[in-house]
Order: sequence, then structure tokens, then C-alpha cells
Amino acid sequence: MWDLRSVAWKLGAAGVVALLACAATSPAGPTTTTGVYSEAQSERGAAVYAQHCAACHGAALTAGSAPPLTGPFWSSWNGRSMAELYGLVRGSMPQDAPSSLSDTAYADVTAHMLKVGGYPAGATDLPASAEALATMTIGPAR
Ligand code: HEC
Repeated sequence: MWDLRSVAWKLGAAGVVALLACAATSPAGPTTTTGVYSEAQSERGAAVYAQHCAACHGAALTAGSAPPLTGPFWSSWNGRSMAELYGLVRGSMPQDAPSSLSDTAYADVTAHMLKVGGYPAGATDLPASAEALATMTIGPAR
């Protein structure tokens, strides 16, 4: 015999579990498709990039001796946290002088990467704080 109440309870519980799983994988904050950096910031970041990154990753971010930071790069980062990307760049780049730039310069150069990747600019700067960036998700590239 079907016990309808028991079935309904199980469906309800499955729904709650699915919701929790969702909440755990995607932070409920903005994504890079909603404008998480400013135009002025990406311009500052372009100067940082030219000086500290272009020699290896190419002037247009399309690769050199190092892998591309645009195009297929964003597909592989889709759905991941901005804090993860910022942490990786800040902790390991430039490869010949890791962690040598200011936190702001790392945020600015990340804004330049987003701009070249086709993500829209917004009203405020991308924060130079892993805590604030942890609420932001990288969205699908254009
Ligand atoms: C001296 C050369 C060099 C410089 C300068 C350099 N990089 Fe890199 N970068 C590399 C190499 C090589 C890799 C690949 C490392 C690996 O796969 O372990 C890499 C990897 C990366 C990645 C990860 C790529 C991926 O597919 O996930 C990012 C992001 C990155 N670099 C950003 C930057 C930024 C931003 C700068 C400037 C602040 C910079 N790099 C400067 C050589 C460089």
C-alpha cells in the first residue's frame, strides 16, 4: 500500500536536500555577468597587465609562453568563485615574482581580464578582498 504522507514527506526532504546542495555550490551573490568591476578599474588593470603579465600571457591575453587568460580560459573557470581566481593570481603570479603586487593591483588586473573576456562593467570596483570576492561567481563567457 502507498502511504501518501510518507511519499510526500520523502519528496519534501529530497527538495530540501537539493536546495542545500545548490546553496553549497553557488554563493548567492552577483556573477561576473552582472557588472562586478568598473570601466576605470579595468583601465588601471590594463596598465598593470602590460607591465607585469603581457610578456608571458601575450598582449591580447591570447597566450604566449603561458596559457591564454581569455576565451577558453573563462570556460574552464565558469561556475567557480572569484575568490579562487583572485587567490590564484595573487598567490602565484607573476610567475617570476609571485605576490609582488598590491592587493589593489591584483583586483585591477582581474578586472582587465573580465573586460577582455567580454563581461560587462558595472558601477563599482571589483573588491581587493578574498572575503568579498567569495560571494561572487564566475558566469558563462560571452
Ligand atoms: C614569467 C611568466 C609569467 C608572468 C609574468 C605571468 N604569468 Fe601567469 N602563468 C604563467 C604560466 C607558465 C602559467 C601556467 C602555470 C601552470 O599551468 O602551472 C600561468 C598561469 C596563470 C593563470 C592560470 C591559468 C589557468 O588556465 O587557470 C592565471 C590566471 C595567470 N597566470 C594570470 C597572470 C597574471 C594576471 C599575471 C600578471 C599579474 C601573470 N599571470 C603573469 C606565466 C606567467
